[in-house]
Amino acid sequence: MRLLLTGASGQLGSYLLRECLSQSESVIAWSGRRRGQSFGYPLRPIDLADADALARAFREAAPSAVVHTAALARASECRGEPRRAEQINVHGTALLAELAERAKIPLLHISTDMVFDGKHAPYREGDTTCPLSVYGATKVESERAVLASPRHTVVRLPLLFGPSLTDRPTFFDAQIKALRLSESIGLFYDEWRTPLSFLVAARSLLTLTDSPPGGVLHMGGPERLSRFEMGQRLAAFLGCGDRAMEAISRNDLPDVEPRPADLSLDSSHWRGLSQRQPWPSYEAALAQLNLTQ
Ligand SMILES: NC(=O)c1ccc[n+]([C@@H]2O[C@H](COP(=O)([O-])OP(=O)(O)OC[C@H]3O[C@@H](n4cnc5c(N)ncnc54)[C@H](OP(=O)(O)O)[C@@H]3O)[C@@H](O)[C@H]2O)c1
Repeated sequence: MRLLLTGASGQLGSYLLRECLSQSESVIAWSGRRRGQSFGYPLRPIDLADADALARAFREAAPSAVVHTAALARASECRGEPRRAEQINVHGTALLAELAERAKIPLLHISTDMVFDGKHAPYREGDTTCPLSVYGATKVESERAVLASPRHTVVRLPLLFGPSLTDRPTFFDAQIKALRLSESIGLFYDEWRTPLSFLVAARSLLTLTDSPPGGVLHMGGPERLSRFEMGQRLAAFLGCGDRAMEAISRNDLPDVEPRPADLSLDSSHWRGLSQRQPWPSYEAALAQLNLTQ
């Protein structure tokens, strides 16, 4: 296997690279802008918005499979730069999917639960998409382009959690810091997800690269939790008090895009395909992460 990993410098990409290292996988690691090495793999910056550069780099890479995690992945960034979000998330993904199809190799495209509106959870793969954000809308379009090829697979991931392996902290890192220092932090009591750790997501995705099922797959966690419940359980796990944690409503934020209430994913299709793949509870997933420092 000669795996092309896009977004290798991102949060999920770093977990994937670390897993590839432990499995001695041959990986071509593409970043967006970042240079240097990550887990011993050289990062090659390729701008997905540059079609010529993308096609050239793909030919040079000559991969046997693609895991495509690169994206403008923050809702606020996509809202602020919708044209760029479309170039990267939609057109870049469409070209990559086409290049992979022409090379007759499978592509695993990472999508999101944000393709739904949050009103009809739990969501199954065939449910109608109805994004409330620019980010979600670009992901819906990207899925359409990828699914034009039956050899490609779209994996919709839920909210991911875990400490950052990059120099950019995640919200999870900020939450841990706030809990440890008893700094006040507001968490939504009325926004539900089926969270999965970066580690479990990375391991599960890599097992799919051997025989990708094609079509759409929901890869959510086993529990439906509000963000506030996640915070409470994280505090208990760390042995910190949770008095500085405030339960807030998602409607309290003056956000320009509405926030979906419940994006819980029904992952029974994936679980049927990957019964031996571990599916740990929130606490068991936390125990797998290195949260000591
Ligand atoms: N994190 C979550 O909770 C979550 C949940 C569901 C789905 N997802 C999906 O999972 C994937 C990874 O998310 P993440 O949280 O790891 O995102 P991230 O940390 O923001 O990483 C994004 C990656 O995309 C690269 N990238 C950005 N613009 C690019 C461009 N123009 N050309 C090429 N590469 C570019 C970045 O490279 P540089 O940093 O080098 O510029 C980085 O490697 C995304 O597709 C996202 O939609 C994430």
